[in-house]
Amino acid sequence: MRKITIAIDGYSSTGKSTLAKQLAKALGYIYVDTGAMYRAVTLFAMRHHLIGDSEDTVTKLVALLPEIHLKFMYNDALGFAEMYLNNENVEKEIRTLDVSRMVSKIATIKEVRSKLVDMQKQMGIDKGIVMDGRDIGTVVFPEAELKIFMTASPETRAARRYKELLDKGDEVTYEEVLKNVQSRDHIDSHRKVSPLQRAAEAIVFDNSDMGLEEQFERIYNYALRIIQK
Ligand code: DC
Repeated sequence: MRKITIAIDGYSSTGKSTLAKQLAKALGYIYVDTGAMYRAVTLFAMRHHLIGDSEDTVTKLVALLPEIHLKFMYNDALGFAEMYLNNENVEKEIRTLDVSRMVSKIATIKEVRSKLVDMQKQMGIDKGIVMDGRDIGTVVFPEAELKIFMTASPETRAARRYKELLDKGDEVTYEEVLKNVQSRDHIDSHRKVSPLQRAAEAIVFDNSDMGLEEQFERIYNYALRIIQK
């Protein structure tokens, strides 16, 4: 069967990674969570006290980019690949609200984007990949055979993320999470370099009121139709 590239973009906490994992599993494809890569660079910047808007801070971080080595390693027990930053498993640390608060800023730096986009293109060179993020259908794989753009109301998304964080034992309030979702929407959609935009040919999914199973079935069927064409 021919292999295709599936690009999933959309707002934060729209269930992109859940859908991407389901599709990758059903098709036997590789799944890549590009948000994890921006989060790992953000964690590196936080550890080096290189968070801030000043030109100096950004210049210092850009100079250190060659020292940032990112790698995904598949964890059999979990059934997905975990993020490693300079050979350290940072999967848990990159998912905290602290990193979520900083990541959109780091993702506006064009040198950071260019480094990560190059790595992502390389990962998809043989197709058979499902990648999720903000600029996958527009910048990383503009030639992807299937592009999905996911959205849901900010309140629905914040409620989902809030529950996830509580389940992990993080002490956060719903209001904090909602504020973070809204502020990331704004920064991600308004940044100069490759802002979050729907690719013209992307299929839009608003899953505010749609169950995960129904959503998966519909998109999986789209994918099969394209693969069998
Ligand atoms: O998918 P996520 O919520 O883990 O992504 C974290 C942040 O990383 C998001 O707010 C914006 C940025 N990001 C990006 O700019 N481009 C991508 N392809 C993926 C994520």
